[in-house]
Amino acid sequence: MANNKGGVGKTASTAAIAGELAHQGHAVLALDLDPQAGNLTAVLHQRGYRGATLLSVLLGEATLEEVIVETKDPNLDLLPASLQLLSQESRLQRIPGYHGLLRKILPQLSGYAYVVIDCPPSLGDLTSLALTAANVYVIPCQAEQLAFDGLHDMVRAAGVVRENLNERLALAGIFFTAYHPNQRGALNHGTVEATRRLYGEQAILPNIRKDMAVPMSQATQQTVRAYDAGSRAAQDYESLTHAILATL
Ligand SMILES: Nc1ncnc2c1ncn2[C@@H]1O[C@H](COP(=O)(O)OP(=O)(O)O)[C@@H](O)[C@H]1O
Ligand SMILES: [Mg+2]
Repeated sequence: MANNKGGVGKTASTAAIAGELAHQGHAVLALDLDPQAGNLTAVLHQRGYRGATLLSVLLGEATLEEVIVETKDPNLDLLPASLQLLSQESRLQRIPGYHGLLRKILPQLSGYAYVVIDCPPSLGDLTSLALTAANVYVIPCQAEQLAFDGLHDMVRAAGVVRENLNERLALAGIFFTAYHPNQRGALNHGTVEATRRLYGEQAILPNIRKDMAVPMSQATQQTVRAYDAGSRAAQDYESLTHAILATL
């Protein structure tokens, strides 16, 4: 889940899609690469988490199993993020070929059908680490933000990773979160139409409607389906997850 803009629903979508896959019966690992407050670790595990992260694993100081924690969903585990990712990123950068490290260590994990990665809101080293390891990337957007420039930058950055580090990387698609077809409808609709023209019909995934169930599920540290399986957001994320799986 990648977009260099913040507040577009990356974290909400990572939790919801990982939760959908877990609900389908798959063992899922959600991997948090955002060190900042309000990250996936805060919404699925613990606010203010200060412990080990993927970085400890990449630096050879811990194994993946030692860092992974459980969530309230028995099929969904989490590899947490903390400020460690920020404070020690420079140590990572000194390792030759570090971009390929995540891709190299993920196969050491057994038992997970899917790994869903939540990227930080930047196109920095942590995002390229994720893009180098991934089979597909998905871009959540908010139509109201008119985030076109950001979208171009994101797709271009993924193209650079594809050319240099990970030739199998594919764009599964772009979707709009907190979508509200009535309120400021013209703006939302116009943004979606413009995105469709630029990236093609096949790149447009189902929208996620604006729904208080999303912030409520985050505040109560559970997936949106666990919070309210009948909510608009849970229904929309179910459709979105099917659409993403169809691209794999
Ligand atoms: N479908 C939605 N309906 C209502 N609020 C949403 C929805 N999706 C995300 N939000 C809210 O928008 C804010 C930003 O979402 P978040 O997932 O943290 O974005 P990002 O990870 O891209 O920074 C959060 O407060 C979240 O609760
Ligand atoms: Mg986030």
